[in-house]
Amino acid sequence: MSVIRSIVTGSGSYLPERILTNDDLAKMVDTSDEWIVQRTGIKQRHIAAEGQVTSDLALEAAKGALASAGLEASDIDTIILATATPDNTFPASAVTVQAKLGITHGCAFDVHAVCSGFVYALTTADAYIRAGIAKKCLVIGAETFSRLLDWEDRTTCVLFGDGAGAVVLEAAEGEGLNSDRGILTSHLRSDGRHKEKLFVDGGPSATQTVGHLRMEGREVFKHAVGMITDVIEDAYKATGLSSDDLNWFIPHQANKRIIDASAKKLGIAPEKVVTTVHLHGNTSAASIPLALDTAVKDGRVKRNDLVMLEAMGGGFTWGSVLLRV
Ligand code: UT7
Repeated sequence: MSVIRSIVTGSGSYLPERILTNDDLAKMVDTSDEWIVQRTGIKQRHIAAEGQVTSDLALEAAKGALASAGLEASDIDTIILATATPDNTFPASAVTVQAKLGITHGCAFDVHAVCSGFVYALTTADAYIRAGIAKKCLVIGAETFSRLLDWEDRTTCVLFGDGAGAVVLEAAEGEGLNSDRGILTSHLRSDGRHKEKLFVDGGPSATQTVGHLRMEGREVFKHAVGMITDVIEDAYKATGLSSDDLNWFIPHQANKRIIDASAKKLGIAPEKVVTTVHLHGNTSAASIPLALDTAVKDGRVKRNDLVMLEAMGGGFTWGSVLLRV
């Protein structure tokens, strides 16, 4: 049976120049390199320069994705940007990226699902492509979380960083089989009862301020592995595939302990897990495309590889995308 598939044809990523190490943080709050590495696996994070906004990071990642797909910006008809740290409350930062790329046709909008944002954006782009609304999409995850952090709160400021990653998603014909290239299945979930466990204590409507990120880390940790494994098992049920069939597991990069525990529970071999959290900390919606682009560029992820993406974050929101590259 002929079906429309959404294929990843290019990827790109960008990390701001400035690096903040664990030792740098130990001079700012009561923490240590040893604690941060042991509890999270994070060694450093990148921080956007003064005046450098989320759409600037997104633009660099988008340019990389376009170049690797062999496309011009004018070929793109839809831009979906996942972010919880837009340049301004409105317009959507995706529209600013569209303008910076010199595109005046098609549509651009933001998707807001915090750390699950890229999985939500990719699923939305896939739905647009399969519905015939879009043909060539830029799907971007970009964040400047450094601007939301309380730099006096050691329980959160050591965890997050800034960055961006992007993919080009193009419509192609498939046979409706698991051997097709493209997105094979996606599973999104949310549960607003967990709002208070990970949120920002400001916003235009509530406080007329930007606010700071607040998190009950232990509580988030407690829920993370179960939620992640649930949506991955949903993907296995939908396709009949299993952990043994995966070539790569590219999870949201929040904490190495969560990544390792999820892979172990799912029976995914450690050598199939792509981990980049040590290099950039938790970059929220940017973390999956950053890790994906890293593994594509270093030659690990190759055409036709079966890749599982997953994320979990504020809301709570969580989700999985299973695709063949
Ligand atoms: O993107 C999705 C959302 N985010 C996450 O996935 C994060 C999920 N949570 C986590 O990754 C972990 O819960 C953390 C890394 C945030 C914390 O690790 P933990 O093993 O759950 O530590 P904890 O919160 O239970 O804290 C243990 C101790 C506490 O001291 P006491 O109460 O035992 O005396 C904390 O006060 O570590 C203390 N602590 C720190 N010590 C040094 C908390 N933050 C720090 C710090 N440096 N930065």
